[in-house]
Amino acid sequence: MTRFVDLRSDTVTQPTDEMRSAMAAAVVGDDGYGEDPTINELEHAFAHLVGKESAVFVPSGVMANQMAIRVLTSPGDLVATGAHHHVVGYEMGASARNASIQFATISDGSGVMDLTELEDALDAEFDHQPRVTAVSLENTHMYAGGVPLNAAELSRLVAAGAGRPVHLDGARLFNAAIATGEEPATLAASATTVMACLSKGLCAPAGSLLAGPREVIDRARIERKRLGGTMRQAGFLAAAGLVALSSMRDRLREDHVRACVLADAFAERFPESAYDPGRCRTNVVAFDHPRARDIVSELASLGVHGGTLAPRRARFVTHAGITDADLEYAVETVHSFQLSS
Ligand SMILES: Cc1ncc(COP(=O)(O)O)c(C=O)c1O
Repeated sequence: MTRFVDLRSDTVTQPTDEMRSAMAAAVVGDDGYGEDPTINELEHAFAHLVGKESAVFVPSGVMANQMAIRVLTSPGDLVATGAHHHVVGYEMGASARNASIQFATISDGSGVMDLTELEDALDAEFDHQPRVTAVSLENTHMYAGGVPLNAAELSRLVAAGAGRPVHLDGARLFNAAIATGEEPATLAASATTVMACLSKGLCAPAGSLLAGPREVIDRARIERKRLGGTMRQAGFLAAAGLVALSSMRDRLREDHVRACVLADAFAERFPESAYDPGRCRTNVVAFDHPRARDIVSELASLGVHGGTLAPRRARFVTHAGITDADLEYAVETVHSFQLSS
């Protein structure tokens, strides 16, 4: 049988046996009425973990980002954010459609937004440009290669916002917590709202959470309804989410170790990419190469599946479904395959 080492994304993870048991046993109710005890428990647990007053369970990370932008802005506003952030490039223009906002995009190639550029974007209203009313951050920074930001870096960016509300897209916040050694609440402290995904490295089948001040989350619940995201007896999913939060965070470090081995292999095999494997600190390996699409498709034909983030940028992501044997095979394949001419 052809090998299938699936490094396309950490979203391909399967729920664990513990999750499946918890799902089967979950007590559920209608979350539209706030009557699903398992969802209520999950929202409470997440709010506590990220140090916020309140949280809301949603189907996806994109929906959580969209709800945050809708509650923190008004139509016509500018939101300052990284040029390569998920909310800009990978949500199908949703913020323009859902919130009628524009983005002021800031250079973020290193994974951290350029502070001077951010300050200038915020200052530009004095030059008759639209006022930036909110800032959106991302941790880990997916496009840059899962770059984790520590609390000091985040606080500097938030401080530049001079009191404007800040949303933190923490799809992989728990990876950032492992990599920086800082608590999720410490990383989220300076942000107004924070989103995290349960369905990526934490292996839950679906679901994300958005947390923040109670009044903001109450309004976000209305936006969830408007977007069609109220899921009724979704305590079955929340039960898996509770296992994700309690049992799956620590194991993310295994994904980070495996990603770094892969990063070394790609850096050695493609020195022309100038990829520094030292940049790999979490579970994402991303590098530029003029033939990124060929690399991805030719490796896939040999059973090592990744993806591209842009025409000349390849990405490979480790997760709980990748064993040491898979990693060994992937590394050997990266070293041995010949890129067609
Ligand atoms: C940084 C980031 N934000 C948001 C999302 C969206 O999450 P979802 O796929 O659950 O909508 C992703 C998904 O990959 C992501 O990488």
